[in-house]
Amino acid sequence: MKSFEEEITTSPTSSHGSGAAEERIVESASDCGESGEVEEGIVELVSDSGELRPDLGYLLEASDDELGIPPLAASPARKELVTGEAEYTDDVPMPPNGLHAALILSKKPHACILAIDDSVAKSSPGFAGIFFAKHVPGINMVGPVVVDEELFASVVVTCVGQVIGVVVADTHENAKLAARKVQIQYKELPAVLSIEEAIAANSFHPETERFLRKGDVDHCFSSKQCDKVIEGEVQVGGQEHFYLEPNSTLVWTVDGGNEVHMISSTQAPKKHQQYVARVLGLPMSKVVCKIKRVGGGFGGKETRSAFLAAVAATPSYLLNRPVKLTLDRDIDMMITGQRHSFLGKYKVGFMKDGKIRALDLEIFNNGGNSLDLSLAVLERAMFHSDNVYEIPNVRVKGKVCFTNLPSNTAFRGFGGPQGMLIAENWIQRISMELKISPEVIREVNFQRDGSVLHYGQKIENCTLERLWNQLKTSSDFLTVQQAAKLFNTDNRWKKRGVAIIPTKFGISFTAKFMNQAGALVHVYTDGTVLVTHGGVEMGQGLHTKVAQVAASSFDIPLSSVFISETSTDKVPNASPTAASASSDIYGAAVLDACEQIKARMEPISSKHNFVSFAELVSACYMERIDLSAHGFYKTPDIGFDWGAGKGNPFRYFTYGAALAEVEIDTLTGDFHTRQADVILDLGLPLNPAIDVGQIEGAFIQGLGWVALEELKWGDAAHKWLPAGCLYTCGPGSYKIPSMDDVPLKFSISLLKDAPNPKAIHSSKAVGEPPFFLASAVFFAIKDAIIAAREDAGLSGWFPLDNPATPERIRMACVDEFTKPFINSDFHPKLSV
Ligand code: MTE
Ligand code: HPA
Ligand code: MOS
Repeated sequence: MKSFEEEITTSPTSSHGSGAAEERIVESASDCGESGEVEEGIVELVSDSGELRPDLGYLLEASDDELGIPPLAASPARKELVTGEAEYTDDVPMPPNGLHAALILSKKPHACILAIDDSVAKSSPGFAGIFFAKHVPGINMVGPVVVDEELFASVVVTCVGQVIGVVVADTHENAKLAARKVQIQYKELPAVLSIEEAIAANSFHPETERFLRKGDVDHCFSSKQCDKVIEGEVQVGGQEHFYLEPNSTLVWTVDGGNEVHMISSTQAPKKHQQYVARVLGLPMSKVVCKIKRVGGGFGGKETRSAFLAAVAATPSYLLNRPVKLTLDRDIDMMITGQRHSFLGKYKVGFMKDGKIRALDLEIFNNGGNSLDLSLAVLERAMFHSDNVYEIPNVRVKGKVCFTNLPSNTAFRGFGGPQGMLIAENWIQRISMELKISPEVIREVNFQRDGSVLHYGQKIENCTLERLWNQLKTSSDFLTVQQAAKLFNTDNRWKKRGVAIIPTKFGISFTAKFMNQAGALVHVYTDGTVLVTHGGVEMGQGLHTKVAQVAASSFDIPLSSVFISETSTDKVPNASPTAASASSDIYGAAVLDACEQIKARMEPISSKHNFVSFAELVSACYMERIDLSAHGFYKTPDIGFDWGAGKGNPFRYFTYGAALAEVEIDTLTGDFHTRQADVILDLGLPLNPAIDVGQIEGAFIQGLGWVALEELKWGDAAHKWLPAGCLYTCGPGSYKIPSMDDVPLKFSISLLKDAPNPKAIHSSKAVGEPPFFLASAVFFAIKDAIIAAREDAGLSGWFPLDNPATPERIRMACVDEFTKPFINSDFHPKLSV
């Protein structure tokens, strides 16, 4: 079946550079530009694994001086970011006549709207207008894959926080005040508030059942080919994105109301353009969305920012005035969706030596009240439900639950981490059943070159074993493990645990058509270059990497290349900046444009020896050579057929592994990470300093997901909350990682000598792959709990839900204080 648009087919482009740096200069990461994220003494970038790439725009001081351009480190663009001067959407000065918007939100999880009384709101101070479904000039329906969401709820609301209307006023405070005065009468309907309730009520999004099969699971189980079979369930909680910049959009009309422009904090300007055009009844050619930089997106602004732009565009267009909508943190948390919670039900058969024979898996994700990206998230979870393990017989079934909660959405990893976490749960259980260490179970089941995955893709250039062995040596795994054991025999109320976890993350959007990228390169007569591409800078360093590609292509200093902003009128039809592949695909598109321009300049450049690029460009200009080009790239050799359940959804995989050592306090459930060692294969990295920052950030964000952050919804597990309401809607009740949660010893290293033939300049994508590695902290915590339970005389397997918060750690450490109240497999309630 096809859930996405038709694929785009044009001829392949050649955009893979040879990659090998002629001369390697070895320096520590903190010396090469993005030093803010690399703290000396904490991060130790294994000596020469972070080699700089002189071919890609590093070490340009000499040529900078020649041109009289200040060196990179002193460029104002960088200074303003680290000093907090950088302008984000809400900082853009309000145009004259501008209005502020506030949302009128549903207070019920499922209800009919009986009556709306806005009379009091209309006399509120500064009031300028109020708008509902009936005012929408175009179509009141939106949705990124399936158009299944009302922009403004008209008759029925399906979650708390659903937008019913919008108020505009002279100030943000006045807009909120007026919105609060709108009275809505509801007739409540039964609500579905968890995966379990959805399964019981058969509440699923239409046509979201998916299957993947390899071998014959039924035959394997019925013919008793396995020494042992286990069955169990894994609950995986959600996660709030907690980008530092909440959703924000500024919309205004142009040419007397004939066109609409906006600046939005988004990973998907094209989606904003599309939603606004649809809702206002305008052609996409009259709507422009731009964005300079996003203060963090993490997937949360891949789709859920777009309906907010369409909401703000409605009063702007109808009143012909600029409108700004910036969400307060609590509203942003309550209405814009989170990482999907998952429920996994597994049956695994294996041999005495730990070799896995069969996996029968059923997974469910909590989609919320619209489909959004939930099906693609489920699919990626299904693709990643083998993590890195060879399993001869596999059956994976997936379904997206419809619940009366705000629509859940993309979040770093996009279902991959949930799929892999379920896998590591049963791996850990096999280890306990067989009394063989989990590392051995992992190792005997590793995939390698030639392995054919449960969806038909064949593994090539697998670096897993190399990474794994290198990590075991560099982290001193056995010594750390021995020391922890010794500590545990000497201590009753504090326990240490160690775990080492591998990962493999598929690179490409799993929807083939999305793997395309456009770029626009202008070369000016002073030798400077303006690059625009379809990708958004959200702190991941994309613009720096893409600028490096342009600078190296023209052989000019990085400071001669400028990326101003992302805009739908410069590069059309851009996919969201997501799936970690942006430097691969936009780098390749920019290289394509640069090569076109270089080919046009060649007749001139080959004739003379120009002293500078500027001279060459001026000479070309005098010869009437076009110095602007549009570049394009589409990822080759990918595609997947869900009907057959076979194909190559991914261009390649990014591999990694991590060791974590934790210490828990068994009486309070408190813990800290004593050591974390992370290694990734990033091919020949485009910019190792940025990549180390990405790995650190992803790991800590993952640590939040596995051990700190717990969303509490008004559901059957939390009857003390109003139904469907989010309790944890700010940092006071929702604990995100802070300085204190950074591992005491934190080492990041990159695999050496592993060029990737499948992406730009032999590099690999980095953004999402390291996120899952934080599960090493989760399993280290579980290892410590095992030691505590042994002291209490318990040796069997026990469940531990994600996140392993202090409450869960404490209650799992069964002892004389908990025994009067709970049994040994108690698990605290979790919103899933
Ligand atoms: N890093 C920062 N600082 N801020 C972000 O919002 N998003 C992550 C990752 N790293 C994010 C980030 C996610 S979810 C993705 S998919 C990638 O960046 C997207 O950017 P890329 O394709 O350029 O890696
Ligand atoms: N990854 C990230 N974002 C996406 C994907 C994907 O595979 N598909 C659609 N949006
Ligand atoms: Mo990332 S979840 O693909 O934006």
